[in-house]
Amino acid sequence: MNTEFLVVDSDRSRPLLQRAAKYIREGELVAFPTETVYGLGADGLNGEACAKIFEAKHRPADNPLILHISELSEMDRLVEGVRPQYRKLAEELWPGPMTLIFQKSKLIPDQVTAGGDTVAIRMPSHPVARDFIRVCQTPLAAPSANLSGKPSPTNAQDVLRDMDGRIACILDGGSCQIGIESTVIDCTTEHPEILRPGFYTLEFLQEYLPDIRLEDHLIEDSRPPKSPGQKYRHYAPKAEFHVYVGDLEKIEDLFNEKVQKGLEEGRKIGVMTFVEDPNEYPGAEVLRIGSEKDITEMGRVLFAHLRSFDRMGVDLILGVGVPSDHGYGVSIMNRMKKAASGNVHFL
Ligand code: TXA
Ligand code: MG
Repeated sequence: MNTEFLVVDSDRSRPLLQRAAKYIREGELVAFPTETVYGLGADGLNGEACAKIFEAKHRPADNPLILHISELSEMDRLVEGVRPQYRKLAEELWPGPMTLIFQKSKLIPDQVTAGGDTVAIRMPSHPVARDFIRVCQTPLAAPSANLSGKPSPTNAQDVLRDMDGRIACILDGGSCQIGIESTVIDCTTEHPEILRPGFYTLEFLQEYLPDIRLEDHLIEDSRPPKSPGQKYRHYAPKAEFHVYVGDLEKIEDLFNEKVQKGLEEGRKIGVMTFVEDPNEYPGAEVLRIGSEKDITEMGRVLFAHLRSFDRMGVDLILGVGVPSDHGYGVSIMNRMKKAASGNVHFL
């Protein structure tokens, strides 16, 4: 299959969106930008089209998809029994990086829910995403547009690298603002639970839902996750990846030591560190992840950097992490820990 690559510029190029929407209507796959990561879209009401997503990504069949909508009113025919507090949450925080899980309606194909009786819904805020969904006139089922197991793509080139020849079309809308996937909240129970942490943190969401909590798995690893996607190996670069959390100067000393040793052993080393770190680590590939003082940049570049290290042929990545006990650190470390297969060290 020839993958068509369409650059959607700031005037939102309506003819291009029409062209891409035709693929969706024909049951084909189109990747599109959202404010979190790129999505791999199919007509969410067409089971056969949704099945192609699993094939293109090599996604395990038991991992359900998110349906993306462009207006709140579209939700009504997709879900059932929405409790008032959750409708209010949707009204207040959509469009945005938040996915809500409800009881599904009869309209939803099994391929979307992986056979389950709940469905995940999200209204993205990215203008290209919203315009595209509108033009398609159907909810778009869309997981992140990476091959299963790899870091989610946050720019169209990274989508192309994974999906070239596997899907009909890619809409290039530039780099994603947030860089990690949406916060997933289970709204099927009276007390809401965060199943996947994201840009909307527990503390932020507590202002809207005072009784919201992190699900057990996010507090204690040994508990099984309620969101199927959380159990798979994820976001993983090819290289061995170690993350270090603590005092930056101590981490710098350790990085210098480890880079030296690694180079002597003939390894190719990647270092991912804050802009405050003055070291240049000669002989290593060094990528900066923004400032220790504002970790939003870290979220924005994390996945793209892990992919860059792979392309450089690095076989050991040393990265700085952040405290994971509050705020956005919970979400970033959720991804880093998975990417590093649990290799997180505290100094
Ligand atoms: O930011 C995002 O959410 C991106 C963009 C493209 O919107 N999408 C995304 O999709 O990250 P995906 O498929 O990579 O992750 C969806 C997550 C998975 O962990 C999946 O298991 C969970 O949501 N999920 C989907 N439906 C669910 C359901 N009915 N019950 C529990 N978890 C569900
Ligand atoms: Mg994903």
